[in-house]
Amino acid sequence: MKAFVLHRYGKKGALELAEVPIPELRDDEVLVQVHAAGVNLLDCKIRDGEFKLILPYRLPLILGHDVAGVVVRIGPRVRQFKVGDEVCARPDDFRIGSFAEFVPVKEASLALKPRGLTMEEAASIPLVALTAWQALVVKAGLKKGQKVFIQAGSGGVGTVAIQLARHLGATVATTTSSANVDLVKRLGADVVIDYRNQDFEDVLRDCDVVLNSQDGKTLAKSLRVLKAGGKLVSISGPPDPDFGTEIGAPWFVKLAMRLLSSGVRRQAKRREVGYSFLFMRANGSQLREITRLFDAGVIQPVVDRVFPFESTNEAMAYVEAGRAKGKVVVKLR
Ligand SMILES: NC(=O)c1ccc[n+]([C@@H]2O[C@H](COP(=O)([O-])OP(=O)(O)OC[C@H]3O[C@@H](n4cnc5c(N)ncnc54)[C@H](OP(=O)(O)O)[C@@H]3O)[C@@H](O)[C@H]2O)c1
Repeated sequence: MKAFVLHRYGKKGALELAEVPIPELRDDEVLVQVHAAGVNLLDCKIRDGEFKLILPYRLPLILGHDVAGVVVRIGPRVRQFKVGDEVCARPDDFRIGSFAEFVPVKEASLALKPRGLTMEEAASIPLVALTAWQALVVKAGLKKGQKVFIQAGSGGVGTVAIQLARHLGATVATTTSSANVDLVKRLGADVVIDYRNQDFEDVLRDCDVVLNSQDGKTLAKSLRVLKAGGKLVSISGPPDPDFGTEIGAPWFVKLAMRLLSSGVRRQAKRREVGYSFLFMRANGSQLREITRLFDAGVIQPVVDRVFPFESTNEAMAYVEAGRAKGKVVVKLR
């Protein structure tokens, strides 16, 4: 099969389009013929070597963390999916590889593709929607009537998180630049802050939840817009000791996480708010709940650009530039 392969870690290095064998299917996996693959910053960060401690991949490696396609083969222990099913997934860590014609995916990480969506739209969903779900529903327990601040509302995570938070009955504040104000309002944001002209700290206070996806300075300010008892969930770091335990990291990695997050955890404690780091995980049952919301039209996909498969490196460069409005997808079929 054709695949984009990473041979050497390196900043902004290119993936090589190569002919490789189709990966062997495990008993609890289905083989998906890839129709479309979502592009995530995680692909760029792994390529650059930034995730070597958390995700120690052996090279060569096929990148790609989002897939929509058709089941063409099933393992002997697969019960809920059959050949011909249209599906989407965020493949598990250490089993990624959707920048390819075929990718094996664990049955437990799979969902049927929402019927009303194209393959490209379905490929744009899994990683960012699971991130929004795991941050807002699982970690923060966001409830009706609460106030949530979602940073970067026009990005891949932000566009889904705004819609999910509104569905949960929360009031949503978000940041974006002036060009995307209409987009985030259309998605349901109640308070929109143009981060280039306004400081969110001057506008927001007493938030119940913050979804942090930006730098350390933004993180420090975000703690100050929470009410006592509020929760900050960060998807851009720093990782906390609980995360180290969750991934079974060696002691020196756990120590590094403890040190990296000690400042923010101390500040959070002083302000009587919760701090936690989220690194999203593949999860088929959560994905099935999310795809139901897409099927029902409660959440709409936001796809900025679709690149042909051959232009996967260009698609990654576009994502890295940091201006995407929603998601970027590569199309194979
Ligand atoms: N831990 C996890 O599990 C996890 C999962 C998913 C993503 N992430 C991380 O979360 C971050 C966001 O991911 P993403 O996929 O949503 O990114 P993305 O789609 O690439 O974000 C692009 C968007 O960010 C907006 N933006 C850029 N700088 C901004 C700022 N200072 N304030 C507000 N908005 C800003 C841009 O809007 P303008 O063009 O208007 O500036 C653009 O629409 C990344 O660091 C990613 O690696 C982590």
